[in-house]
Amino acid sequence: MVALAAIVLAAGQGTRMRSRLPKVLHPLAGQPMLTHILDALHRAGIEHRVVVTGHAAEGVEAALAGRGVSVRQDPQLGTADAVRVGLGRVPGSVRHVVVTVGDAPLLPAELFQRLVAEQAEGDSVMTLLSARVPDPAGYGRIVRGADGSVRAIVEDRHADADQRRLDEVNVGTYCFDAAWLRANLGMVAASPAGEYYLTDLVGLAASGGRRVAVVDAPRPELTAGINDRVQLAAAERLLRAEIAERHMRAGVTIVDPETTHIDAAVEIGQDARIEPWTVLRGATVIGQDAVIGPHAELRDSRVGPRSTVWASILEEASVAEDCEIGPYSHLRPGAEIGARCRIGNFAEVKQSRIGAGTQQHHFSYLGDAEVGEEVNIGAGTVTANFDGTDKHRTIIGDGAFIGSDTMLRAPVTIGPGARTGAGAVVTRDVPAGKTVVGMPARAIGAPRDATTGAGRPAKAGKSLAAGEPLPVAERGDSDA
Ligand code: UD1
Ligand code: CA
Repeated sequence: MVALAAIVLAAGQGTRMRSRLPKVLHPLAGQPMLTHILDALHRAGIEHRVVVTGHAAEGVEAALAGRGVSVRQDPQLGTADAVRVGLGRVPGSVRHVVVTVGDAPLLPAELFQRLVAEQAEGDSVMTLLSARVPDPAGYGRIVRGADGSVRAIVEDRHADADQRRLDEVNVGTYCFDAAWLRANLGMVAASPAGEYYLTDLVGLAASGGRRVAVVDAPRPELTAGINDRVQLAAAERLLRAEIAERHMRAGVTIVDPETTHIDAAVEIGQDARIEPWTVLRGATVIGQDAVIGPHAELRDSRVGPRSTVWASILEEASVAEDCEIGPYSHLRPGAEIGARCRIGNFAEVKQSRIGAGTQQHHFSYLGDAEVGEEVNIGAGTVTANFDGTDKHRTIIGDGAFIGSDTMLRAPVTIGPGARTGAGAVVTRDVPAGKTVVGMPARAIGAPRDATTGAGRPAKAGKSLAAGEPLPVAERGDSDA
């Protein structure tokens, strides 16, 4: 039996945003405003959440992704009308209903909990959240009687000069006694403009001799309603500061929170260090002791413990432990980098798995490739994966040595321990341990031992530089 529910009002257009996107879908720290509210209500223990949609309803409903049920308000006749529509989806067993506007996304879960606790405890018919703000313009003002009790909420546009000076404002968040709300919502009269104000319920309760309780928000800045993009940017700044502080308190070093952007859902391990001008977006996860930045941008990516990512871009990529990425690496969707790899200057990896200990130091492209362990990818190596119509795979075995400026025309397989000379254009598979050179590449010399690694270059990581003496393939050499 559900005893507690919430209604989120999100049917309005948000005209002052001057946007084609509904206001509640404007992102804040990487996720829609509305998502922040629904997540906070969830954290507050409110399991039944109803979202009232109207303007651009399809888009708003799609963004819910199971975080709440929706109901449409059409036409949008004001906040009281929206709550009436929302109540249609609130089970009869519910005793307390939280109502909150869809454009106050910073409200913390604890505040919803305090509101519910206050309402559950006293004899009041509703509890409203109030805040004292430096600039109350635009908000409904809380009007109190001589005894301090709440008498009414007066909307900004209907307030007289004295009321305008009141700095105690209605945040737009309430907890109602469900039965009283159902019985009294129909008593709200239309405004001159034909709107039904939820805030009129306060005056109705007071004049009927019922008590209206108030919870005063300890941090008024977190109650801010967002009506335009200037307020959106201010909220973003505040939320980012909150997120950075949460990570720092949990043991993450953030060298310069001012220039570091961390989305709400990002996870960061203990003793990780986030250097300046770093942007961590989406569902990014950073392991313990990793160092990210300066100048790194990661979206929906994972970085393992102790790895470093310097001045690089990662998108839907994963990097295992003890790697060095950057500067100027670009790991694109599906890049999976194994442990102890080094990916360096102007190296791009897409939809490829790279085995442990492999090195790709210099400008190079690996796409749709399966690369083994301890492979050296020489400077300028390119997997030519696209034939104009289809993408093809490149497979490179463990311990292979790909010389500088090698073209790998996919589909192609380079066997374990095989070796390509500088400038090789590889158009056919290379067996394990073989060396190929030239264009198109042909096999030379005796096979290297793929299992013992004999014949491998003494020092992994050194590419065959142009100009370094290489045996020249003879005409008629077999392709093996
Ligand atoms: C409202 C309050 C005001 C409070 C302020 C806090 C009323 C009458 N006024 O004013 O006292 O200080 O919020 O931010 O409630 N909505 C619907 N259906 C409608 C109308 C609005 O779902 O028919 C939704 C909007 O999408 C929005 C929320 O209700 O998320 C508030 O509407 P808005 O027009 O922004 O109200 P304010 O003028 O800010
Ligand atoms: Ca508003």
